[in-house]
Amino acid sequence: MTSRLPLVVANWKLNGSYELLSESVDGLQQLDSTKVEPILCPPYVYLGTNTQEVIKGAQSIAAQDAGAYTGEISGKMLREVGCRYVIVGHSERRTMFNESDEIVAEKVLATLNAGLIPIICFGEPESERLIGNAEVYIDKQVRAVMDKLPSLSDSIVLAYEPLWAIGTGKTATVEQAEQMHQVIRNILASYNQELAGTTRIIYGGSVNPANSERIFASENIDGGLIGGASLDVDSFVAICKSAIS
Ligand code: PGA
Repeated sequence: MTSRLPLVVANWKLNGSYELLSESVDGLQQLDSTKVEPILCPPYVYLGTNTQEVIKGAQSIAAQDAGAYTGEISGKMLREVGCRYVIVGHSERRTMFNESDEIVAEKVLATLNAGLIPIICFGEPESERLIGNAEVYIDKQVRAVMDKLPSLSDSIVLAYEPLWAIGTGKTATVEQAEQMHQVIRNILASYNQELAGTTRIIYGGSVNPANSERIFASENIDGGLIGGASLDVDSFVAICKSAIS
């Protein structure tokens, strides 16, 4: 049994509409917020919509606070529109938008400086797993961020998302995911034993209503980061419910 409140994050990526937003807000009303914390991360433009009832997160953030950075959105702005979380270092940002470990670390700091909670994503490509290097790869990726934090904040969430499981329908087995979550928790413990016990580590990669309950039941898995299945309100609500033990 764990005292960590399960967190289930809807990462809409470049999808969605006002209609999906209002349906999602309605759907999430059925959930008991003392048992599961659902977060909606729609594209930026929908974040300013007045949706007091749900907790909102952004899918990215500028590393800078202000200035001549066309197209960027700052942490202060995200806070002003009522965001509480920011997804940082998603593999799509790392690979398609060239976000290095250094940039990810800067964005984590920008998130914390704005008083927001980063959901920091890590994950190995399939080639690394196939040569038995997944743990080493993750260790390096996690430490690249943790080493830059001035003091280990109690306001971070980590997300393990193996690249080969994202949007592929090929979920990690519960054993594979649990093992990597243990690895990540041990890394956290090497920085701060107490925070290693309280920090939520969520899993992402082809989670759906048919597999979520088994994944979330695993000891070190504290919820999920949901892409495709979050675009269907019933599926997302079902996944949130399955996180309640
Ligand atoms: P998926 O995406 O659920 O569609 O695999 C997860 C993610 O990229 O966060």
